[in-house]
Amino acid sequence: FGSKRKVRIVVVGLDNSGKTTVLNALKPKKASLETVPTVGFSTEEFQKHGVNFSAIDMSGQSRYRNLWEHYYGEVEGIIVVIDSTDKLRFAVVKDELETMLADPRITEKKMPILFLNNKVDQPAASPPQETMQALGLDRITDRPSNGLPIT
Ligand code: GTP
Ligand code: MG
Repeated sequence: FGSKRKVRIVVVGLDNSGKTTVLNALKPKKASLETVPTVGFSTEEFQKHGVNFSAIDMSGQSRYRNLWEHYYGEVEGIIVVIDSTDKLRFAVVKDELETMLADPRITEKKMPILFLNNKVDQPAASPPQETMQALGLDRITDRPSNGLPIT
């Protein structure tokens, strides 16, 4: 990895949304497609497009969600993974995101945030625009955004 700068990111989202799966997909060795629920958090290192990343893969289980905020002050970006098929829990996601987006460490730094509408391969998936609306993300006005799907 040499002496290049390291970019730290934190990956948050409800349990079962696919955070560990997304990070595994970014790593060069795809040893296994199987994941187990993350306990607490785990740190993953990988290189992508010549940049060294250190990603903190948080657990989404409710008893661990209070750990998320401990990393907001230490990272340069946040990835929020959303299970687009889990519409029953959109209200829970919305609640967690409201807490997150009100955090001074995020608002003051205008922290870049990527919202990932995951599991779109499933027939029950909510399209990105609908997810954004359901989570109130279309009302974020304090920062530039684009709603481009990731292909
Ligand atoms: P916690 O660690 O408990 O917070 O969960 P997590 O967000 O890390 O979820 P994880 O990556 O372990 O994935 C949960 C389940 O969703 C696994 O069975 C994955 O295979 C599945 N999954 C993840 N991403 C996708 C996707 O894009 N499509 C489909 N169909 N399944 C997915
Ligand atoms: Mg996980």
